Amino acid sequence: MKKFTRKAALQQQLELVKAEGKIVGFVPTMGALHAGHLSLIKQAQHQCDVVVCSIFVNPTQFNDPKDLEIYPRPLSADIAKLEEAGCDILFNPEVSEMYDDDESWHVDIGEIEGLLEGKFRPGHYQGVTQVVFKLLEIVTPDLAFFGQKDYQQFLVIQHMIDLLELPEKLVMCPIAREPDGLAMSSRNIHLSAADRQHALILSKTLNLVKRNFNSDNIVQLKHDAEAAIAAEPGVDLAYFEIADAKTLLPADKDTETLVALVAATVGKTRLIDNVLLKSG
Ligand code: PAJ
Repeated sequence: MKKFTRKAALQQQLELVKAEGKIVGFVPTMGALHAGHLSLIKQAQHQCDVVVCSIFVNPTQFNDPKDLEIYPRPLSADIAKLEEAGCDILFNPEVSEMYDDDESWHVDIGEIEGLLEGKFRPGHYQGVTQVVFKLLEIVTPDLAFFGQKDYQQFLVIQHMIDLLELPEKLVMCPIAREPDGLAMSSRNIHLSAADRQHALILSKTLNLVKRNFNSDNIVQLKHDAEAAIAAEPGVDLAYFEIADAKTLLPADKDTETLVALVAATVGKTRLIDNVLLKSG
């Protein structure tokens, strides 16, 4: 695997690759890689000739400085995982390589910015779009791969791509889960053994909602799901919503596509998960 910390050197390498007519796939991450990230790499390898992964803990998307500080950064273990997965190129810049001191950014992504995660993490999606825009500009891949795990993030980035008429195509990859159903996340390492058990209520409830789903009883399903999660010790529910899968606006039984999304703090760790109920 070729490793770059400077964008100019990375771009030089990518020019050679593109001159050979190769299809470039890109998997942006913040590191602390797990099987969920590696499933994105695998999907990218399936669809592309050359796969670029970035590891960059982006400060502008953290609204809580403490969260940024404790974000895990196991770089050598990450490199070993990428080597083993057969990733071709790693881009791992310093903050100073990505940002000038006096930078500002705003993109109008509409109502979705203030919904769900956006409501709980003000500014988060401006930070995400800012760094993804920069990364896409540097790498200019044919395809960029993102996880369904961060469902709202995917919609936000797609919205930015459409708005700014960027050429990249996005691919949404399924959520990788632990054998017991817990969605894989870099934050799971902060869960105690007891938290880890309590956290299962999120995927269990989403599964139950999917099993019991029919579009006539959205209100009841949401109500039951909230009650089940609220009853789980150690779990502080932020939201459970059944929303329009294209916009995340409130849904009713006639909405064409539906997704159930949940966020909760388990112990001290904020977790999110979701399941598609109706894909149109
Ligand atoms: P990070 O949380 O490291 O996630 C990188 C990518 O991996 C995202 O597209 C995310 O949805 C995906 N991912 C995480 N857990 C997954 C799982 N269990 N199954 C499948 N995919 C999973 O998301 C970010 O970083 C950042 O916001 C980023 C887009 C890199 C911008 O800084």
